[in-house]
Amino acid sequence: MTDAYTQAMWSFACNQLQALSQTRMRVVLVSALSLCSTVLSPSLVDSYIAIEAPIAKAGILANIGPNGAYASAAAPGVVIASPSTHDPDYLYTWVRDASLVFKLLIDQYTTGQDPNLGQHIQDFIQSQTKLQQVSNPSGSVSTGGLGEPKFQVNETDFTGSWGRPQRDGPALRSTALITYANWSLNKTGASNVLKTLWPIIKLDLDYVAANWNQTGFDLWEEVDSSSFFTTAVQHRALRQGAALAAALGQDASTYAAQADNAFCFLQSYWNGHYMTANTGGDRSGIDSNTVLASIHTFDPAAGCDANTFQPCSDKALSNLKVYLDAFRSLYRTAPDATVPTGRYPEDEYMTAIGGTANPWYLCTAAVAEQLYGALIVWKKQSSLEVTDTSLAFFQQFDDSVKVGNYTTADETYGQLVGAIRLFAEDTLAVHANYTPANGALSEQFNRTTGAGVSAANLTWSYAAVLTAFSARAGNAPESWGAAGLKVPRVCKLQSGPMSSVTFTVNAETTFGESIYLTGSVVALEVWNPTTALPMSAADYPIWTLTVQVPASTDIQYKYIRKFGSSVIWESDPNNQFTSPAGGETVTLEDSWR
Ligand code: NOJ
Ligand code: NOJ
Repeated sequence: MTDAYTQAMWSFACNQLQALSQTRMRVVLVSALSLCSTVLSPSLVDSYIAIEAPIAKAGILANIGPNGAYASAAAPGVVIASPSTHDPDYLYTWVRDASLVFKLLIDQYTTGQDPNLGQHIQDFIQSQTKLQQVSNPSGSVSTGGLGEPKFQVNETDFTGSWGRPQRDGPALRSTALITYANWSLNKTGASNVLKTLWPIIKLDLDYVAANWNQTGFDLWEEVDSSSFFTTAVQHRALRQGAALAAALGQDASTYAAQADNAFCFLQSYWNGHYMTANTGGDRSGIDSNTVLASIHTFDPAAGCDANTFQPCSDKALSNLKVYLDAFRSLYRTAPDATVPTGRYPEDEYMTAIGGTANPWYLCTAAVAEQLYGALIVWKKQSSLEVTDTSLAFFQQFDDSVKVGNYTTADETYGQLVGAIRLFAEDTLAVHANYTPANGALSEQFNRTTGAGVSAANLTWSYAAVLTAFSARAGNAPESWGAAGLKVPRVCKLQSGPMSSVTFTVNAETTFGESIYLTGSVVALEVWNPTTALPMSAADYPIWTLTVQVPASTDIQYKYIRKFGSSVIWESDPNNQFTSPAGGETVTLEDSWR
C-alpha cells in the first residue's frame, strides 16, 4: 500500500497511545487517540476494504466448481474449502463452509448487490439436492446421512475417519436456502417454491427437528457433545422453517415446537460470564464458536435480546470480553488492547510454529462484525444499556462507566459508541496488518511473522471478511424471527416419548455443600457441572430429584458435590440404567461413591 512508512509510524505511535490509555492518563489521551482514529484507522481500514473486498469476492468465486480457477475438479455449485491438497488437504466440500458462503452470496443476490450470482445459486441448489441423497458413513438420507460434514468435490462420499456427525450443516444450509425461498416466494409464488426448494429444505429441517438434542461434533470437528454454535443455528433454522412452512401452507407445528425446545436448551450454556462453547471437551469453553453464533444469528429486530444472544446483548458482550481476554493473555497484549484471535485458547491445530493457538482470519473478523452489529442496533434504538453482566465489557472503553441506560442525549453514549467503533476499526486494522500484500487469506496466520498458516485461500476466510465489511457499512441483515421470543418456562428436551425417573442418593454432606446430578442426555445437562441439576435434601441424607428423560434410552449419570466454585465428582465408572418406556416411572436408589 502507498505511504506504507507513514502508516507504520502512525500505527506504532497509536499502539503506544492505546497501551497508555489503559492508565489514568486516559482523559488527556482521548483527544490524541481520536486523532489516531481520523488519521490512521479510517484511512487504513477504508483502503484495506477497497483493496480486499474485490479480492475476497474473487477468492470465493475461484473456489466454486467447475469454472472457479481452483475448482475445476468440483461439480457445478460445489464450494471447495480451500485449494490446498496437503498440510492440510482441504480439497473437499464441507456443508458448513459451503452453506455460510452461499448465505452470503444469496444475500448479495437477493438484495440486488450482485445480480450475476443467479446461475451459481441454481448450481448450488442442484449440488445440495444431490449431496443430500449420497449415502455416506453417517447414514443414508433417511438414517442420519444429512449429518455428514464433508464430501468429495465430485459429489461422492468421503469414507475416511472423521469427526462425524456434525449437526450444524443441515441447519446452516436450510437457513441459506430459506433466505432464497423467501425471496422466490415474492417473485414466483408458492407453487414454484413448493416444487423446487421446499423438498430439500424440508429434509434438512426434519433432520434438525429430530436431532437437535442429540450430541455430535462441534464446528471445529473435535468435541463430541452439545455445542452452542450448533444449537444456536439449529434454533434459527427451526424458527425460519416454521415461518416458511406456514407461508407455504405446510404443517409448521413440529418446527415451532422444536424451536421452542432448542431455544430453552440454548440458555443452559451460560455460566454467568460467558457461553461455554461445548458441554464436553475438557476445556475452558471460551471459544469463537460463540462469537460466530452471535453474528450468524443476528436479528436487528430483536434489539439487544440476551436470550437469542444478539451482538449488543449483555451476555454476548460479556462473552466477547472473556474471549478477547483469553487471547490477550495468551499473546501477552495490553489488557484492553485489540488482539488477533483464534478458535479457542487451548487450540493446537497447526501450531508447530509459535506453539500457542494461531489467530484465524475468520475469528478476528467475527470480533469486528459482532461490534459493528451492536453499533447498528444501538444507533437504531438511540440508546445503549450497561448491565451488571456487561459492565466489565464497557469498562474496557471507559473505566468510570456505571450500570445504567444511556441515550443519545447522554455524553456517555457518544463516548462509548465512539470508543467501541474505534475498537472495531482497530480490529479490522489488525486484520489488514496481517494480510499479505496480494490480499490472499489463508485459514490462520502466524502472529509474529504474519505469514499464512494452514490451508491457503480458505473460502470461509473470504466470506468472513465480506460479512464484516458489510456490517461495518451499516447493512442490517434480514430479520429471522428472533424478536419477542419467550423462553419456555419448562424445557421439553425431546419430541419423542418421555419417562419419569426419580434419582435418590444417600450422601452425607458438610455444611454449605450440596448434591447435584448430571449425565449423558440433554435432560441431565450433558455432563455440565455448571448447569447440573440441584437435588433436594428434604429427607437428608437422602437427596432426591425427579426428571423427565427420553424413554427406553441408555443413560449414564453421576452425582456431584458442589461447594462454592469447588466441584467433586463421584468416582468412576459412570452410573448407568435404561429408562422405562414412555409414560412410566422408576426410582433409582444410589449411594454416593
Ligand atoms: C481437522 C479439522 O478440520 C480441524 O478442525 C481439527 O482441528 C483438526 N482436524 C484436528 O483434529
Ligand atoms: C477446519 C475447521 O475447524 C472447520 O470448521 C472447517 O469446516 C474445515 N476446516 C474446512 O474449512
